Amino acid sequence: MAFVDRTGQQVPNVVFHTRVGDSWKDVSTDDLFKGKKVVVFSLPGAFTPTCSSTHLPRYNELAKAFKQNGVDSILCVSVNDTFVMNAWAAEEESENVIMVPDGNGEFTEGMGMLVGKDDLGFGKRSWRYSMLVNDGKIEKMFIEPEKEGDPFEVSDADTMLKYIAPDWKAQESIAIFTKPGCQFCSKAKKLLEEKGLAYEEIVLGKDASIVSVRAITGKATAPQVFVGGKYIGGSEDLEAYLA
Ligand code: BEZ
Repeated sequence: MAFVDRTGQQVPNVVFHTRVGDSWKDVSTDDLFKGKKVVVFSLPGAFTPTCSSTHLPRYNELAKAFKQNGVDSILCVSVNDTFVMNAWAAEEESENVIMVPDGNGEFTEGMGMLVGKDDLGFGKRSWRYSMLVNDGKIEKMFIEPEKEGDPFEVSDADTMLKYIAPDWKAQESIAIFTKPGCQFCSKAKKLLEEKGLAYEEIVLGKDASIVSVRAITGKATAPQVFVGGKYIGGSEDLEAYLA
């Protein structure tokens, strides 16, 4: 394989064919990179387990922190067509990440990252890597080590963010069960927002039912808040915790 670190080089010049609604839209690398500070992460395939459970969601989750540290956009490249990438983005609700469908593998090949995954029936795909690109010029690359399988050690969002902002400390992940129309739920979300804390909202009736809340907390009310693996409780408990 022998991947080459392309720091100092320009990204390959490629046009991506994307589908927006029922129209085709060509997007060039100039459109994506010119005059912008961009973080790119590239992975072997939409809908695959590690890509879906960790690689993409964490970049999406940390998008605000990247922005606060001068990054204009975050791109996810995969050797998949635009319909697959769009469907994956919709399923993952990854609205902070721009999907780049490199269906022909031209960008990935230009980066020297195209690998054969014929053993899995995947054909040619991208090796996992991430890079920081400033106005089209590669400033830093994190390339996964050349090991068997699909190593995922350095191209993650936390590694890239710590490179860009060494003092940045990961906020503990926060999840909140809410119910539509619940005023204590609105209060809890406001408390988190006032502290600038990102959170994931699990809406009862849409993402889960009260059965999950009862099973996890032993209570049958909303909101219910969790921080970094700890159960906090309702809005008053959250207020006390944040104070
Ligand atoms: C994964 O993301 O877990 C994965 C990627 C490529 C092939 C198989 C699994």
